[in-house]
Amino acid sequence: MALKILALGGDGIGPEVVDAALQVLDIAAGSTGLGLDISEDLLHGAAWEAHGTFLRPETLAKSRETDALLVGATGGPRWDHIVIDGGPEEQDGLMKLRHELQTFACLRHARARDSLLSRTPFRPEVVRGADVMVMRELCGGAMFSPTRGIDTDAAGVRRGYDLNEYTEAEIARFARVGFEVARRRRRRVLSVDKANVFIAGKLWREVVDEIGRREFADVELTHFYTDNAAYQLVRQPTAFDVILADNLFGDLLSDQSGALAGSLGMLPSACLAELPAGGRSERPAIYEPVHGSAPDIVGQDIANPLGTILSAAMLLEYSAGEVACARRIDAAVDAALTDGVATPDLGGSHSTQQVTDAVIRHFREL
Ligand code: NAD
Ligand code: IPM
Ligand code: MN
Repeated sequence: MALKILALGGDGIGPEVVDAALQVLDIAAGSTGLGLDISEDLLHGAAWEAHGTFLRPETLAKSRETDALLVGATGGPRWDHIVIDGGPEEQDGLMKLRHELQTFACLRHARARDSLLSRTPFRPEVVRGADVMVMRELCGGAMFSPTRGIDTDAAGVRRGYDLNEYTEAEIARFARVGFEVARRRRRRVLSVDKANVFIAGKLWREVVDEIGRREFADVELTHFYTDNAAYQLVRQPTAFDVILADNLFGDLLSDQSGALAGSLGMLPSACLAELPAGGRSERPAIYEPVHGSAPDIVGQDIANPLGTILSAAMLLEYSAGEVACARRIDAAVDAALTDGVATPDLGGSHSTQQVTDAVIRHFREL
């Protein structure tokens, strides 16, 4: 049966990079005989302009019936002022999809490729070999708390708040996926929190620690306060394997890890509701680059498409079990970069389409 994919370009450079990734996906799937059933729709700002809503019920219904979603990016100054009734998930089409599909485990992969070492802000000997999986909890914490608002007291003073809360069950399901991911890598987990300040952080540390000791004794577990982790990540990036972080800390550390890869535009992600054992996954997953809609470079054909192309590779790995094909896309990306084909964010002078063409050419040759 064909793999069902729903492509949602979203806003800003989102449609440009999704278009590039679909070109690669089409060639890659063809090479393994995997049938694709791709449909496209609008998300967030683009959906607002056409339909007056950030996510149409039809789009949500379709996303539940699909194997995988490939998303570009959402948001932009044009829609920032719009406030929708309801919780945080109603304010952004992508947040709503993550929430509805319960894709609580977000894998954000940053790798210092040899071809890009000189494009990073690091000395090559510091960053060479760095390969970090920032795992971000994606459905809870302050970012999804229903306890939020702006109140005004009797004296007219306003108070804004978003409750930083996690249940034991939310932490546990996320930690288990994190340890499983570590088993497929170098078996090392660093869990980050601010247990020295936040009560929710104390629970985070306690639950992760207990699961680690009881169920994953073969995985080395360390705990750091997040501020120290942010410092160590740039001081000795090669010391990291899997980083387990809550929704907010994971958002910050994943953008930071973009510098290891030479550009935020290089980073892919997989947002999973389960970690598939292999083969087809049962639950719909969302694949998206880590970057945003980059309004500053929209429409110029200079957006780096590689984060989204590598997200398509993660799609093949996690939603279709096509690991070899995913690795071949990764190798084609390496080969294109080694040839010096790169967009301006990496110091290059090539367009989005030229980079995409180079990846496709190398994929065919490998
Ligand atoms: P951003 O990630 O869009 O951009 C940050 C910087 O990185 C900019 O200088 C941009 O030009 C550059 N950049 C990002 N992706 C790039 C790419 N593929 N190629 C080349 N350069 C790239 O973050 P921002 O400016 O803080 O946010 C812009 C909008 O995007 C906001 O509305 C924000 O809410 C939204 N956003 C969405 C997502 C998402 O959809 N997942 C993620 C982050 C931000
Ligand atoms: C990300 C983005 C989003 C987030 C925003 C746009 C809602 O920054 O995917 O990293 O904070 O999750
Ligand atoms: Mn972010």
